[in-house]
Amino acid sequence: MLRTADLSVEKINKLLQDADEFSKGKTLKAKGEIYVSNLFFEDSTRTKTSFDVAERKLGLNVVPFDISASSVNKGESLYDTVKTLKSIGLDLCVIRHKKEKFYDEFKGIDIAIINGGDGTGNHPSQNILDLMTIQQEFGKFKGLKVGIVGDVKHSRVANSNAEVLRKLGAKVYFSGPEQWFDEGTIINGTYLSIDDLVKEVDVVMLLRIQHERHDSDEKLKLSSDKYHRQFGLTTEREKAMKKDAIIMHPAPINRGVEIADELVECKRSRIFKQMENGVFARMAILKTALEAKGFEFE
Ligand code: CP
Repeated sequence: MLRTADLSVEKINKLLQDADEFSKGKTLKAKGEIYVSNLFFEDSTRTKTSFDVAERKLGLNVVPFDISASSVNKGESLYDTVKTLKSIGLDLCVIRHKKEKFYDEFKGIDIAIINGGDGTGNHPSQNILDLMTIQQEFGKFKGLKVGIVGDVKHSRVANSNAEVLRKLGAKVYFSGPEQWFDEGTIINGTYLSIDDLVKEVDVVMLLRIQHERHDSDEKLKLSSDKYHRQFGLTTEREKAMKKDAIIMHPAPINRGVEIADELVECKRSRIFKQMENGVFARMAILKTALEAKGFEFE
C-alpha cells in the first residue's frame, strides 16, 4: 500500500471494515511463516510501534532493523537494502523515508511494501486510522465537514487525507498561515479563517508544524505563543465549535502551539483514540498487502 489516492472507495471500505472487526476482537493468524521488517529512515513513535504490535497480533515474524546500526551508514542504497532483505527471506517491509515516492525504486523487487510515510507525499496508514476514527464517530463521510488546520503544505497527512475525504463525499476546509497554502495545496478544499472554520466543521484536524521540511524563506517568524493565538485551537475557539464536533491530531503534538494543552485530552479530543485505532488499521493494511502476495490467514 503506497498511496491512499490509488485505493478505490470499495478497497477503502474493505480496509475500514477489517479494521473495525479487529477493533471488536476478531483475531487472525498468518498461515505458515511470514517475515516482515519495519525500516524507519525518519523518526517515529506511533507508526513504527503500532505496525510492530499489529504484526505480532497477526502472528508475523518481525525482524528488527535498526537503520542507525545498519550498512545504510556505509553508503548502501535504499534499493540495495530492500533487495538484500528480500534475498535474506523477508516477505514485507514497512518503510518510512524522507524521499517522496521512494517506493518507485523497488519495481523489480518481488516484496510487499507498505508506505509508512514518504516525505511530504503520503501517509496511507495514518489516513486509514483517521477515516476509521471519523467513521466510528459519525457513521458516514458524505456531507461531513472536515477542517484541516496548520502546516498543510508540508504535511503528508493533510494532503492525502484531504484527497481521500473528498473522494468519500466529505467537504474539506483548510486554515493556517497563508504562506503554507497555494492553489495546488487547496485544490481539495476551501480556505477559511480559523475563527470561521471552528464554527463550521464537524472535525477539527490539527497538524504539527513540520519545521524539518521548511526551507529558510518558509520559516514562520512567529513565536509559539503568537502562532497559538493566530492559528491554534485555543480554549476560546474550542467553545465556538459545534456541539458534537471532535478534535483530531495525527501527533506528535506541540502542546500550547497548534492546540491548547488542556484540550489535548478534553471530551472532544479523539487524539489518543486515533493512536488506539492505528493498531487495528495497520492490521487491516498488513493483511491486505500480504493476501495480495498470496499469503493466507486463519
Ligand atoms: N502520526 C505519526 O505518523 O506519528 P509518528 O511520526 O510518531 O509515527
